[in-house]
Amino acid sequence: MSLSFEGRVVLVTGAGGGLGREYALAFAERGASVIVNDLGADTKGGGKSSAAADKVVEEIRAKGGKAVANYDSVEDGEKLIQTALDSFGRIDVLVNNAGILRDRSFARTSDLDWDLIQRVHLRGSFLVTRAAWNHMKNQKFGRIIMTTSAAGIYGNFGQANYSAAKLGLLGLANTLAIEGRKYNIYCNTVAPVAGSRLTETVMPPDLVAALKPEYVAPLVLWLCHEQCQENGGLFEVGAGWIGKLRWERTRGHTVRQKNKAVTPEAVRDHWDKICDFTDATRPASTQESLQSMMSVLSQVESDEVDANPTAAAASAAGGSTVNPALAVGQKVSTSTFSFNHIECILYALGVGMSTKDPDHLRFLYENHSDFSCLPTFGVIPAQAVLMDGGLSSVPGLDGNLTRVLHGEHYLELYKPLPTSGTLRSEATVADVLDKGSGAVLLLDVNTYSGDELVCFNQFSVFVVGAGGFGGKRTSEKAKATVPPPDRAPDAVVIDSTTRDQAALYRLSGDWNPLHIDPSFAAMGGFKTPILHGLCSFGFAARHVLKQFAGNDPSRFKAIKVRFVKPVLPGQSLQTEMWKEGNRVHLQCKVKETDVVVLAGAYVDLHGASDAPPESLTQGGSLQSELVFAEIGRRIESVGSELVRKVNAVFGWEITKDGKTTAQWTIDLKNGSGSLHRGPGGGKADVTISVSDEDFMEVVQGKLNPQKAFFSGKLKIRGNIMLSQKLEVILKDHAKL
Ligand code: NAI
Repeated sequence: MSLSFEGRVVLVTGAGGGLGREYALAFAERGASVIVNDLGADTKGGGKSSAAADKVVEEIRAKGGKAVANYDSVEDGEKLIQTALDSFGRIDVLVNNAGILRDRSFARTSDLDWDLIQRVHLRGSFLVTRAAWNHMKNQKFGRIIMTTSAAGIYGNFGQANYSAAKLGLLGLANTLAIEGRKYNIYCNTVAPVAGSRLTETVMPPDLVAALKPEYVAPLVLWLCHEQCQENGGLFEVGAGWIGKLRWERTRGHTVRQKNKAVTPEAVRDHWDKICDFTDATRPASTQESLQSMMSVLSQVESDEVDANPTAAAASAAGGSTVNPALAVGQKVSTSTFSFNHIECILYALGVGMSTKDPDHLRFLYENHSDFSCLPTFGVIPAQAVLMDGGLSSVPGLDGNLTRVLHGEHYLELYKPLPTSGTLRSEATVADVLDKGSGAVLLLDVNTYSGDELVCFNQFSVFVVGAGGFGGKRTSEKAKATVPPPDRAPDAVVIDSTTRDQAALYRLSGDWNPLHIDPSFAAMGGFKTPILHGLCSFGFAARHVLKQFAGNDPSRFKAIKVRFVKPVLPGQSLQTEMWKEGNRVHLQCKVKETDVVVLAGAYVDLHGASDAPPESLTQGGSLQSELVFAEIGRRIESVGSELVRKVNAVFGWEITKDGKTTAQWTIDLKNGSGSLHRGPGGGKADVTISVSDEDFMEVVQGKLNPQKAFFSGKLKIRGNIMLSQKLEVILKDHAKL
């Protein structure tokens, strides 16, 4: 379908000759009613004649088109629009084209040279457009063209006045595009090249002849058609070629450091980076332009330790200096952290817990009888110390500490975390290592509830570019990573993160925009925001807790991980686990890519003998829970075999201080067997009552079940003969 302008009223300014005439003819040919405006001035704006406009109107009418002339200057904007309304009753399209030149080298540019150019081009376009605006707005349709020039976009010798006015028109168009959009008023800008009386003085005659205005008009017509949805565009056009322009910006460089003045020297020293167009971005709005600056603002203010190993590029700034002699042993500021069940639950959701899994309810529901805080929540009060930005004030850690990576983390709990309270964290620089390309800061954070030490965190922070000071490479204070055993994992758990995992996790206090802001992530070289390293860490820890400790937080002792690669929200985490005594080695991969993200990691659980006394009273946690969890898994794998051997239902009552604290039912009679928490009721063939401690003695082979029975430590109701089959059930757990 050809593009028709039937019913449309089009005003072309400066249409008595050159490009304007061509536009007017083309619009008329396609059915538009055209107002041919031209003052009839000379190229410098002098003189006045109606001849130019009349001639074009005649041409149009001769071809059967509709046109009227207008001889006013664009500086009388209202009059031009009035002609359109008087003649055709409306105004649909406005092509701001009229123009003159007063070229002078800058030094010789007079006030008049300057003013006349601004008045005709910039002010004239403003006045005509303003006069048309409300009509377009009311009819919810308008198409506006501004005419700029290569001289405005790139500059041109002798055209300072003209360049300024021409680029001013682009600025005008950019804002009209935004303000007009909702009224279906679109405004675009063209930078034409064509032979005309304006160019015949600067171009050779054959070029003037070759660059025909008719090669430019089709772009203007398309941009002014109702089908065209382009708005706010800038186009270079000539010789039958059309191209679009946009802004491009370097990734730039942050020269500011927290609590430090920005210096011209820092600008000088990073000039190459500031001007490096590698991987340049293309902001298309003021918002996009500002967004990345806002990100830097929050980054510099809030962030010294990034909870992710690969975030360096996001805040890259050099000049770090670390002086171990001064820094080691220095206390970083103390911080307090108050929380209640809301923070605990938010954190549990942040590390992927879900009500889909009934086992998770104890971490998600404050009224649950065993409501608990996940052990890895212990990183949250500790990280507050570092988020507050205390690091830069420590002597020996001067310079830029924004370019840091959270390389490794160790957390140890001395008692299960409370589900509310106020905790105080004290951080110390434990050691500084020289890794050549950077320095590693070991930051030890002790977290107290009152005077009682609750947990210990060690952050291994890699400071890019701060190495090479001749320091030691290792430290006895570092909690080391440990490789997993050389065999297939004993257990593998696959768990998907959600698209909003990072958005949720950050609410627990790591506000680094890298994890939420796409433009900030892009600056760091990531396609999308990445998950917090400590979020994957939380996932892995709870996988171990569920797999080997029946989700009992009191069994958790410590965790160590090395962050290797980032995880993207929405990817699935595959935690591979190897149990070696009380230590569960682990490694985490992104399932979709098979890339290892957490390495050299382990979780230490409290075993039977070294469980802290609190664990028995806190939240109803018992040492025997771990054993039952293992029994449950064993039933899952070899249940049918056990059913064949045992063929009975065992009820268990585990006591503490003479009171029954937990009940379990091991069904090795029906189906392929099952384990559940709770009384066996009428189903149980035999019910065994034993204290938590004695149960563990039996399990560890320290106490013979028969002897325990005869000494009264183990009470049996029901089919007493079945007690002989106890060893089949418990035998593989002796190593616990
Ligand atoms: P032109 O001189 O042939 O056409 C401009 C027309 O505007 C003339 O007919 C003139 O009488 C009219 N005019 C001047 N002052 C006026 C006023 N105050 N009110 C109403 N009409 C007025 O020049 P050309 O080349 O056709 O230029 C058209 C537009 O394209 C101008 O804005 C010019 O700056 C721009 N341009 C042209 C280029 C080219 O290669 N021809 C290059 C870059 C920009």
